Amino acid sequence: MRVGILGSGLMGAKLGTIWARAGHEVVFSYSHSEQKLKKLARAAKGKARAGTPREAAQDADALLLAVHWSRVDDVLRQAGDVSGKVIVSCSLPMNADDTGLVIAHTSSGAEELAKKVPKARVVAAFGTVPSEVLFGVFAARKKARRPSLVYCGDDARSKKVAATLIRDVGFDPVDAGPLRIARYTEPFTLLIARLAYEGDGGPELAYRFERFE
Ligand SMILES: NC(=O)c1ccc[n+]([C@@H]2O[C@H](COP(=O)([O-])OP(=O)(O)OC[C@H]3O[C@@H](n4cnc5c(N)ncnc54)[C@H](OP(=O)(O)O)[C@@H]3O)[C@@H](O)[C@H]2O)c1
Repeated sequence: MRVGILGSGLMGAKLGTIWARAGHEVVFSYSHSEQKLKKLARAAKGKARAGTPREAAQDADALLLAVHWSRVDDVLRQAGDVSGKVIVSCSLPMNADDTGLVIAHTSSGAEELAKKVPKARVVAAFGTVPSEVLFGVFAARKKARRPSLVYCGDDARSKKVAATLIRDVGFDPVDAGPLRIARYTEPFTLLIARLAYEGDGGPELAYRFERFE
């Protein structure tokens, strides 16, 4: 797949690197430093390059939106026409100092994003895990027990694309249903963040749902 990364920070840099290593064609975009994007592309090996958000969006089979909530409008403006594109978003509607959600309960960041780009197909995924765990999950992808990763969206074809990308990182994709379920997954992330960053263990935390029949 061709994957455009919109926001090459903690999440975007790592996920883009993993997808390049998994064989996808990746364009890293949206950083204050073009040098950083080029360095990321070189280090990812595989088929990765640096580009502008517009270049990342062009011909992309999937876009990862990985920016702070306050930068969503800017990066989307720079990306240009995203009609028909699959946008996998890990972006959470956090306030300026990242202490709380600015949208919750009656809507979600993912739903508000879908309203901003009504012709794109938004899937919420990856927002429920800390960036620190991503390389570890990828390294352990051959093991039988994979960690879960919930995702949700309203378009079946886009969800299939997202599930492939989730599997390629090393997670077991868990389809949580329509995009409005992001109202539950986004606050859940604050619990995960609490355990990851305030708990006794390190931030390399993932979760797994178990079923007992
Ligand atoms: N970090 C996590 O563990 C985690 C987990 C789950 C969800 N999330 C969510 O995922 C999203 C991304 O988080 P993150 O931690 O990856 O964020 P981040 O590290 O701050 O990365 C954001 C990216 O946007 C770029 N950027 C910001 N302002 C810019 C501007 N004015 N011009 C150009 N580029 C600009 C940054 O540039 P630079 O490269 O120059 O910094 C960086 O590449 C957020 O919505 C967050 O809530 C994060």
